[in-house]
Amino acid sequence: MQKYRLNNGVEIPVIGFGTWETPNDASGVEAIKYAITQAGYTHIDTAAAYRNEESVGKAIRASGIPRDKVFVTSKLWNTKRGYDNVFRAFERTLQNLQMDYLDLYLIHWPAIQTQFPDSWKKINYDTWRAMEQLYKAGKIRAIGVSNFMPHHLEPLLDRCDVVPAINQIEVHPGYQQVEAVAYCKQKGILVEAWSPLGRGDALANPTIKAIAEKLKKTPAQICLRWVLDKGLLPLVKSVTPARILQNVDVFDFQLTAEDTAAIDALTDCGGMCLHPDKVDF
Ligand code: A2P
Repeated sequence: MQKYRLNNGVEIPVIGFGTWETPNDASGVEAIKYAITQAGYTHIDTAAAYRNEESVGKAIRASGIPRDKVFVTSKLWNTKRGYDNVFRAFERTLQNLQMDYLDLYLIHWPAIQTQFPDSWKKINYDTWRAMEQLYKAGKIRAIGVSNFMPHHLEPLLDRCDVVPAINQIEVHPGYQQVEAVAYCKQKGILVEAWSPLGRGDALANPTIKAIAEKLKKTPAQICLRWVLDKGLLPLVKSVTPARILQNVDVFDFQLTAEDTAAIDALTDCGGMCLHPDKVDF
């Protein structure tokens, strides 16, 4: 698997295996283990909120892959924001995973102005300070954020010591987030794309289907190639063996400029299209 180099020099495999809604049971373990052993994924993305960190840890151990050959991400949930809480939440995540360090730890969602009118900036900064401390102590190889728009990042970048290495946001052909992506690129922050298939909805889009037929690839592979061509890192989720295999088989073809332009012109083709200022969790 090819790798991107983060702004702190750490390398990260260019496709990650997403685990949102992957069950925290034997079937979840089996899917993740299959992804590692049969399809060659070496980058697994989970979160405390997914409640499947135990299964992620079990699957990695069961796969036989050495710990340092797999890139593991988890995320701090919204109820654990604030300096002191971060340390406890992080320890819990390590316990769940049965690991002694993380490759990447993200703030899952920013504190927002509508919920915390006077303190949202301070909450985000205090949370970040704790992440920085864990990073400097060598317990996390890279730290970042998720679902941050430029106006959430701006105040953090004004004060932070360590610039986030990653911003993980929803990106797919139906929700391209062009401004947020451009902003992160300019700041040296790698964008990870969650739901790169628009939760599967984008796969029924006639433009994407036509390009897939022409290139003898699947609509999912077209979406993933499009995300990679933008210099982003797709986190693709599946519990279905054939799809798990298919979703990393995206390095032997290219989209033409016309294909890319046609996908760039799409607007509404599914996904959750969540805006962090409009969520209520
Ligand atoms: P499943 O897990 O049942 O295989 P996203 O990553 O955009 O959120 O999309 C995830 C959804 O897309 C899941 O429902 C997953 O189903 C489905 N999916 C993942 N890969 C493929 C694929 N190659 N073809 C069709 N559907 C897919």
